[in-house]
Amino acid sequence: MRGKIVIITLLGLLIMSLVLAACDDGMGKGIEHGEKRIVLGFSQIGAESVWRSANTKSIIEAAEESGIELKFQDAQQRHENQIKAIRAFIAQQVDVISFSPVVESGWDAVLKEAKDAGIPVIVADRTVDVKDDSLYVTVIGSDFTEEGRRCARWLVEKMKGVKEEVNIAEIQGTPGSAPAIDRKKGFEEILKDYPNFKIVKTETGDFLRSRGKEVMEEFLKDGDLKIDVLFAHNDDMALGAIEAMEEHGIKPGKDILIVSVDASRLAFEAMIAGKLNCTVECNPLIGPQLMKAVRDVVEGKTLPKRIFVEESVFPAEVAAEELPNRKY
Ligand code: AHR
Repeated sequence: MRGKIVIITLLGLLIMSLVLAACDDGMGKGIEHGEKRIVLGFSQIGAESVWRSANTKSIIEAAEESGIELKFQDAQQRHENQIKAIRAFIAQQVDVISFSPVVESGWDAVLKEAKDAGIPVIVADRTVDVKDDSLYVTVIGSDFTEEGRRCARWLVEKMKGVKEEVNIAEIQGTPGSAPAIDRKKGFEEILKDYPNFKIVKTETGDFLRSRGKEVMEEFLKDGDLKIDVLFAHNDDMALGAIEAMEEHGIKPGKDILIVSVDASRLAFEAMIAGKLNCTVECNPLIGPQLMKAVRDVVEGKTLPKRIFVEESVFPAEVAAEELPNRKY
């Protein structure tokens, strides 16, 4: 009888340990088939653009492919939601935290909490402005300043000898965000050597197509404003502005030249339709690079402080040929 009880107890313990091995251990550490899975907490900005949706998809797919357990939080464009998500990841003791910061500043305190908890942080897509850069391991993403420069270089080349004075309207991204700050900076840096190119109007469109349309409507209502070129900080806002122009009887891409950033499929279609003149690539497909960095950090490898992604410039002339290659 005693022997039977011992066997039953042992069997019970074995079953319990198998069940536990197949599940999360409730402390944020994933366990599968007896092996500990890396747990990554990721706070995404939201779903403001087609770029963002492609970025989210890339991260989710890459986590699945690399066997990393992803705890994904959508912050719906709110800084405070991202802080809450990061604090929740710390409480769950995930292995690595990553986030795409909606704005550059306001991260010092929460990143210090992560550091104190011994959880490494990888910043994805947008950069942060913190006093102590040991608060994060690396930033993986685009060079937004270079994207702004590329837009301006394309424009200067395009307008060479065409017009004496070039009036530019600008629709900026989210105020305080790294891409809005840096794209503007890069664009103006190139144009300062060309005083005949002037930004005559600038307004934020929050990276949203709907706001791009509204802002362009406001610009067009001003009868005294003569616009030759639109510089939109992303394709979505350019597409919204195109709708506004058409409703005002203006031919986008002809009466007003348009250069924007992202290189989404929709931008390529607009270029093929003759409504957009150039899109500068901002690559959202950073999931695989992010997962590699997560593994490297867990394995104790040293990473460079900045990891860039490769990007190109696509003027309308190459749109038809390039469209089949676009993945977002
Ligand atoms: O941070 C990348 C930018 O954010 C993309 O250019 C824009 O489309 C997105 O919303």
